[in-house]
Amino acid sequence: RAQYLSNMANHVVDLDQENVGSLKQQIAKLFEESLRFTIPDELDVEPAIAPCQNPKFGDYQCNNAMGLWSKVKGKGTQFGGPQPIGQAIMKNLPSSEIIDSCSIAGPGFVNVVLSQQWIAKSIQRMLVNGVETWAPKLPVKRAVVDFSSPNIAKEMHVGHLRSTIIGDTLARMLEYSNVNVLRRNHVGDWGTQFGMLIEYLFEIFPNGEVNDQAIGDLEAFYKASKQRFDSDPAFKERAQQAVVSLQGGEERYRTAWAQICEISRKGYERVYERLGVELEEKGESFYNPYIPGALELLSKQGLIEESEGARVIFIEGKNIPLIVVKRDGGYNYASTDLAALWYRLNEEKVEWIIYVTDVGQREHFEMFFTAAKRAGWLPAEDNKYPKASHVGFGLVLGEDGKRFRTRSTETVKLVDLLDEAKNRCKTALIQRGKGQEWTEEELERTAEAVGYGAVKYADLKNNRTTNYTFNFDQMLNDKGNTAVYLLYAHARICSIIRKSGKDIEELKKVGTLELAHPDERVLGLHLLQFAETVEEACTNLLPNVLCEYLYNLSEDFTRFYTNCQVVGSAEETSRLLLCEATAVVMRKCFHLLGITPVYKI
Ligand code: ARG
Repeated sequence: RAQYLSNMANHVVDLDQENVGSLKQQIAKLFEESLRFTIPDELDVEPAIAPCQNPKFGDYQCNNAMGLWSKVKGKGTQFGGPQPIGQAIMKNLPSSEIIDSCSIAGPGFVNVVLSQQWIAKSIQRMLVNGVETWAPKLPVKRAVVDFSSPNIAKEMHVGHLRSTIIGDTLARMLEYSNVNVLRRNHVGDWGTQFGMLIEYLFEIFPNGEVNDQAIGDLEAFYKASKQRFDSDPAFKERAQQAVVSLQGGEERYRTAWAQICEISRKGYERVYERLGVELEEKGESFYNPYIPGALELLSKQGLIEESEGARVIFIEGKNIPLIVVKRDGGYNYASTDLAALWYRLNEEKVEWIIYVTDVGQREHFEMFFTAAKRAGWLPAEDNKYPKASHVGFGLVLGEDGKRFRTRSTETVKLVDLLDEAKNRCKTALIQRGKGQEWTEEELERTAEAVGYGAVKYADLKNNRTTNYTFNFDQMLNDKGNTAVYLLYAHARICSIIRKSGKDIEELKKVGTLELAHPDERVLGLHLLQFAETVEEACTNLLPNVLCEYLYNLSEDFTRFYTNCQVVGSAEETSRLLLCEATAVVMRKCFHLLGITPVYKI
């Protein structure tokens, strides 16, 4: 132990210890060795490790015995049933400082109680070397997250807000796991609606001097041009011609198109800025030059057929084929997505492509993924890479149970929505007397962190596939499972540490963390499960898994803090370190969820 502490003081990173993976993976590794030794004929059996259902029996359990028994029985095995197999698995476990004791339950489940000293040591090591050392290891190096992706000239609606929030979190979790993430804004900046928009632009600005103010409200501009399009056949004719001119690259049309896109972009930026979301725009137009080549490849493989004048790909089990060239010869959403997939796989060389849209688009993704599999662009098996995943999400509902809208307009202006969350927080802070206590700057920053954080968390805490009801009062409540509650819980921990008057950096080096009280142990174990939680959230693309972890962490902390005196106790140093470790992990959770932590309330 003396040796170990002096190493830590010198910040020597024990590489062997740093690269072992999540707690669950470390336990799995031990059982893997035991399984190889116990049943050498079944080498492909993966250890089945899970947290114990009932903490009375232990922390983790190995569930392999029953499955192994059904594999080996009748093959002249030495074992008389699942329980002896479990016994043998337990006996053959390599010795390790991780495990304190083991026991057998039922038909061969091996329960494991982890060593308290080891849990404490692992947490202390994280405090010294940083929470980055707890990053999970994923089997991919580079991924695309295709998210947000609004459509130019149309309103960015709450669906795009969900996509932005969920996509950003997934990107953050992958980035934390050392994946190189290409954050792609696949904006709808191409397609036939541009003919109409450009023609209308020419009508209102005949001399070509476009100004932002005049078409600042792009939604109104879109509606007005659509009305012209629907009511005037001559205009419609010109609009259709304009699409051809635009796609043919005619200068005047390209310029008008670029102007319209630029105005839209400024609108999105106001949302991204508030949310602190970074995106790189590669819109539909970017992939346009790649469409003919991609379709050519599919064609050569005999995937594309002629149907009612269009070119289509028939997909088994689907009534309608995937249209890749429309009857008028134009390309569409699907042809663009096929070209983008080809580009991402071959030019950007990514191994995982993640698309974040509402569940309504599931069919579209299923169909073009299937086409790509048939073409051999993607492997047929879902557990192999490169992989394409559609992350579908449900609707945002209003209090009336219908699609969320505000009173005044048909859709909700996202910027107004975010500003309202922030302003409500600011009012609440002023009511609590912070107006006098804090500077205006502090007040602003805190209101933003809490307000935007509340909107994000209310979205992320639900399983993404379900619809959820947007409710300011609920999401801004300082009790219950809300960002407000969690941010305050974190600030409270920071204030405990501050008020102790101790230098926590110094304690990390010279103090020792111990987990003697049962509530300390529960909290410590939960901290150690951070890596496997992020891993699960990444693998299954479920941010709510991380939210649940964070909420439980704050519950475990509360129980510990209620039952264990920190400041002034004999265990003060150890307990302050435990407070610090909780704050560090909470902050990492906030960071992964795109929420800015606050340090005082
Ligand atoms: N622009 C589309 C929409 O608003 C979302 C695009 C999603 N990404 C993609 N590659 N299809 O519905």
